[in-house]
Amino acid sequence: MASTFLVTSCTTISYPSKFSYKPSPIFIRAKPIDNYYKVNCKINNSIINHDDEGKYFPGKLLDRRSVLLGLGGLTNFIGVANKPFALGQPVPPPDLSTCSTASLPDGSNVPFTCCPPLPKDLSNIPTYKLPNVSKVKIRPAAHNVTQDYIDKYSTAIQRMKSLDEDDPLNFMQQANIHCAYCNTCYEELGFPGVPLQVHCSWLFFPFHRWYLYFFERILGSLIDDDTFALPFWNYDSQVGMQMPSLYNVVNSPLYDPNRNQNHLPPNVIDLGFTTIDVDASDEQKINNNLTMMYRQMLTNAPCPQLFFGNPIRGGEQPICGMGTIEYIPHNSVHRWVGNPNNKFRENMGTFYSAARDPIFYAHHANIDRMWTIWKTLGSKRRDFTDRDWLDSAFLFYDENRTLVKVTVQDCINNEKLGYKYEDVPIPWRNFRPVRRKQKVKKNAKNVKPATKIFPSKLNKTLPFSIQRPKISRTKEDKNIEEELLVFNNMKFDENECIRFDVFINEDEGVKAKVLDRAEYVGSFANLPHMHDGAGGGGQNTTTTSTSTPATMSLAITEILEDLGLEDEEEIVVVLVPHSGGKEITIGSVEISTLACAN
Ligand code: C2O
Repeated sequence: MASTFLVTSCTTISYPSKFSYKPSPIFIRAKPIDNYYKVNCKINNSIINHDDEGKYFPGKLLDRRSVLLGLGGLTNFIGVANKPFALGQPVPPPDLSTCSTASLPDGSNVPFTCCPPLPKDLSNIPTYKLPNVSKVKIRPAAHNVTQDYIDKYSTAIQRMKSLDEDDPLNFMQQANIHCAYCNTCYEELGFPGVPLQVHCSWLFFPFHRWYLYFFERILGSLIDDDTFALPFWNYDSQVGMQMPSLYNVVNSPLYDPNRNQNHLPPNVIDLGFTTIDVDASDEQKINNNLTMMYRQMLTNAPCPQLFFGNPIRGGEQPICGMGTIEYIPHNSVHRWVGNPNNKFRENMGTFYSAARDPIFYAHHANIDRMWTIWKTLGSKRRDFTDRDWLDSAFLFYDENRTLVKVTVQDCINNEKLGYKYEDVPIPWRNFRPVRRKQKVKKNAKNVKPATKIFPSKLNKTLPFSIQRPKISRTKEDKNIEEELLVFNNMKFDENECIRFDVFINEDEGVKAKVLDRAEYVGSFANLPHMHDGAGGGGQNTTTTSTSTPATMSLAITEILEDLGLEDEEEIVVVLVPHSGGKEITIGSVEISTLACAN
């Protein structure tokens, strides 16, 4: 009976007419209608729901559930839709009762659900209390560890893999947590119809920090060693720019056969990898990598919102606004490791399967390490103080199999979480590229103004000139606002890997493989592994679905200084398409400014 009622109540919701998000100036991804139904009409085998205060109550409460879905659910939904700007509140933890099958980039569903096992009692999820830290553990660089360490680590992973299949601490169950949070298996608690997504926004760093935190503690408990700390893959340094050898031993529990066989050691990683290997010397690749690191950590990330990604608040439909690091090297390393012979580059190349490869955790430890380093780089590089960020919450199983609630606030200081990173050299830190070109060729005959060129397909190297609204900015001006080169209204097929590079003060003859110079500004690269066909965008990019446009902003204040162009009213920009880049259409390009958040 209950099921009949539920279906009826769902079909009475007139989705399109009630759905009135008008969220300009950003793009909001409307969940496709059948997905909305799918999520809300889905009837779990176990009947679980939450009341208005967000407390869960499991079992035989059919009437209550019906009321909620039939009335409360609908009311909430309309309420949310009518108040898109009144949503200033933290992102709540997932509504575990809504966990559904994972959605894939092509819009299909994986034939399995990655929902973690539910605890018996959902009515009372405790808030996690950080244990006292007596000694801060050190996460070592993966290329530096001893055989002793590798043995311990392998044993721990092996034990995790051998746990019962439905044990929440089992390796596959742990990998599924990532799938559930990333392939829109959950809705936000209290916001029916709003999928939870921890990528593409300011949730990226804190979610993955907590995820690794518990994974590491579980490993420690399995080998009875609370000093155990995960290794990090030090690919931001020349010595770590290949797959760490401990992951490349066949038959080791740390091995995964589902990797790109052309990228096994000693192949040098390309931190901007999309789909095609760059045809450059190892030395050039290393210099390009260090330049990209410098750009993503320093030049392009002077502000919290550029580094962490765009804010997302409770009840907002997820949109893509990645921070610099999420985009490069995070996405590119995923793609570089994943097996190109698999449909979605499984395992590492797509969210739902990425965490099945043990190397995932070393990759993410390095991403997490970037957060700790970025905060030491000075100027306005600091954590957000926005309560909506600090109070956003997630749920995890701790090493005792207790499901706990954690908040962003409690993870911003890694030493309070009991770990820090081995102190290794940071070669990109002083890798500020220098100017290689002398002349601004703004009068060359094939350089037309941006206003005359766009909208345009990027089917060849595209030079153009662009006006700056303000020139000769003082130190004070720059302190107040960052100057941004903004690409608007970019349209492309989200199922394709797309990358293009941006140079200033270059022309058609640009040497696109050489990135270690001041003229290289940054790159756009999507990652077609998002949910529901919504691919990732470029850094600080908003992107929604195949037909909805993306934007990208690159901070250029420092580059204009390095190129000696601060007094120029007009600068020359060149776009160089790489893999799939030809398929992108750029609506317009402009220069604007941004005040840093705090
Ligand atoms: Cu949650 Cu590297 O992805």
